[in-house]
Amino acid sequence: MPSLPSQLSARIESATGVDPQLRPSTKPQFGHFQSNVALRLAKQEGRPPRDVAADIVAKLDVADLCETPDVAGPGFINFRLRSDVLAQVASDLVTDPHVGIAQADSPQRVVIDYSAPNVAKQMHVGHLRSTIIGDCFNRVLSAQGHTVIPQNHIGDWGTQFGMLVQYVVEHRIDVMEMDLPEVEQLYKDSKKEFDADPEFADRARLRVVKLQGGDERTLQIWHALIDVSLAGFNETYARLGVLLTDDDLAGESTYNDDLPRVVDELEADGLAVEDGGALCVFVEGQDAPMIVRKRDGGYGYDATDLAAIRRRVGKLKADRIVYVTDVRQAHHFEVLFQVARKAEFLPESVVA
Ligand code: ARG
Repeated sequence: MPSLPSQLSARIESATGVDPQLRPSTKPQFGHFQSNVALRLAKQEGRPPRDVAADIVAKLDVADLCETPDVAGPGFINFRLRSDVLAQVASDLVTDPHVGIAQADSPQRVVIDYSAPNVAKQMHVGHLRSTIIGDCFNRVLSAQGHTVIPQNHIGDWGTQFGMLVQYVVEHRIDVMEMDLPEVEQLYKDSKKEFDADPEFADRARLRVVKLQGGDERTLQIWHALIDVSLAGFNETYARLGVLLTDDDLAGESTYNDDLPRVVDELEADGLAVEDGGALCVFVEGQDAPMIVRKRDGGYGYDATDLAAIRRRVGKLKADRIVYVTDVRQAHHFEVLFQVARKAEFLPESVVA
């Protein structure tokens, strides 16, 4: 059912033949809505605006919606909705499970990628913004009847974890006793040592290999860093009142097992080529390639974001993928979508 103002507007338009440009009234004594339609018509017809307004009111058929309209000032027409009509609409809204929100004709499965903070760091304003805006999309699209699948692509993998875990081991730190700000300090301390002490840096690199190789003690500390970070993130989510839960987590590390296959497919398609030891995908019109495998054999965001698209289309059956991230990453995503289309990870039917 169209809203009361649109119903009213349609009635006036059918009586006058022009868009009434209905506006909310500026003061309560002028009713709920007003129109300057008579003033505009009077100019065309060369008649006094108040006469034109009176004619329109006489012709209008709105008694089931409003009280008799008033002509005010130079020729404005003021409308006051009937209180029984308002009451009916209000009670209809209260009893409608969709509270009057129009439902999508063809509901879609929409993946929304938002928040995505990094383990061992507190969220910064970019993450807060993404969290809030992403959650708005989640609520609006859900209310319209779409199936929303939130994905929190947290940064829980990468060489920095070698450095962190090595520091924790050498300093015999109990991570589980810490909170997120303390873990963030740990990150800074370990980075300082990494930059200042080449031998520590070497041990940190070996630790990355252990992490990738599934060494138990290393994994345990890595898990502890994640748990403490998630507790911190969830505290912030609770304060913001957002819908995200741990079920929506799909961090970098969850794509590990997919990466070799993703890269193989890109190579088999002839899209990925070796360049200076790294495996790259070049796209037309972009100077910088996507680096799908780094020179040291490691993978970064370029590779995991591709794997994420593949999973979202394949396993999560997304009709649409919405990214809510920092504007500074706009270029990364532009290239990503081009590559994903070329690699046929992202069919034309799926909008990103
Ligand atoms: N964790 C990244 C950062 O904080 C944001 C990741 C955005 N990318 C993504 N696919 N969601 O910079």
